[in-house]
Amino acid sequence: MAQSDLKEAATASAAAAEESKPSALFPSYARYPIHLVKGKGSWLWDDKGNRYLDFMSGLAVANLGHAPDKVAAKVKVQLDELWHVSNLFHIPQQETAARKLTEISCADVVFFCNSGAEANEAAIKLARRYHQKVKGTNRYEMITFEQSFHGRTLATLTATGQQKVKDGFLPLPEGFKTVPLHDIPALKAAIGPQTAAVMLEMVQAEGGVYPVEPAFVQELAELCKAQGLLLIIDEVQTGMGRTGAWFAHQHYGIKPDIFTSAKGIASGLPAGAMLAKEYLREAFPPGSHASTFGGNPVVTSAIIATLETMQEERIPEHAAEMGDYLVGLLKETFKDQPFIKEVRGKGLLIGIGCAGPVGDIVLLGQKHGLLFVTAGPDVIRLLPNLKVSKEEIDQAVAILAEVVAAYLAKEGN
Ligand SMILES: Cc1ncc(COP(=O)(O)O)c(C=O)c1O
Repeated sequence: MAQSDLKEAATASAAAAEESKPSALFPSYARYPIHLVKGKGSWLWDDKGNRYLDFMSGLAVANLGHAPDKVAAKVKVQLDELWHVSNLFHIPQQETAARKLTEISCADVVFFCNSGAEANEAAIKLARRYHQKVKGTNRYEMITFEQSFHGRTLATLTATGQQKVKDGFLPLPEGFKTVPLHDIPALKAAIGPQTAAVMLEMVQAEGGVYPVEPAFVQELAELCKAQGLLLIIDEVQTGMGRTGAWFAHQHYGIKPDIFTSAKGIASGLPAGAMLAKEYLREAFPPGSHASTFGGNPVVTSAIIATLETMQEERIPEHAAEMGDYLVGLLKETFKDQPFIKEVRGKGLLIGIGCAGPVGDIVLLGQKHGLLFVTAGPDVIRLLPNLKVSKEEIDQAVAILAEVVAAYLAKEGN
């Protein structure tokens, strides 16, 4: 064997040995067999050069599309200046980002953290601390709803109304009750002298894409006010324009005491925020809550650029318009397809309720160059970016129709 052949064979066998090793990562994610390496706008490319139309946006994160120019430009400037500074110092980018968030919502004060779960954790802590330290009561209990999803920390998975995320993590923290959604009598029965707050998603996204009924929301908001309970809205998935408003609760005309945001807030950099009304400010005095990385100059630059882009380009309005268009097209396309039972959602958070499991449809979609996800076993969830065009929607729905037909044509489906 020539020297070069020997070298090649050795490299190949080293690569094979490397591949046969178990991954050095915990297997806590069931990962798809695609290696994505590049993204721009609504499109992603894998390591083999295949192109995909992205209708999942990194699970409602890349709301301005992949690598949005204005956000990238601002972050690059910041990366050359200062990456991190402790929250023991003033961070002007944080002030600007917070001010902007208060201008587009009913909130007056903001706490920055790194994820949705952390934002909800902060909301739970703020509610408890407000009642215990500001109001001088012993209220600590949260009421949440069946099928909700609030995160994976111990407190937020306890708040979550789905058993599967709690499995194996006993004992769970105290002070959480879950009641069925839309059930006012059950809610009233759950409220007691220790109840501090009620936490709700305006569209239960992970739970199957179910928008909450407006009449229930009104009654809940009135009940909270009458009983002195804080109303916390989890806008981690529904916020930042996703449903066609800056925050989904704005569709309902309510002003929550606290709401949370993450996912799309920094266009893909890890950031979360907990936003609250003025009277809650004193519940988080110096030393009461903190996060090392929360709101650092790089992520808050991304938040500022994301908000500026969204304002300049009227992104929530565009999302509302494209959402109506997408829902209309899906209903028309599948009107004679009994497998598709219902198209629901708000803005560009869309669920397609199906007559059977949809996991294989997601995999088939990937083979046809379209990325989307599920929301439970029999719901297809579409989460395109909020700048998506009508042409891209036409293309995605055409691929989806092809994929559903191919799936149903297969024996046994
Ligand atoms: C409504 C809602 N809340 C909280 C979370 C948790 O967010 P994170 O994964 O950033 O912790 C999610 C994530 O999907 C979510 O959809």
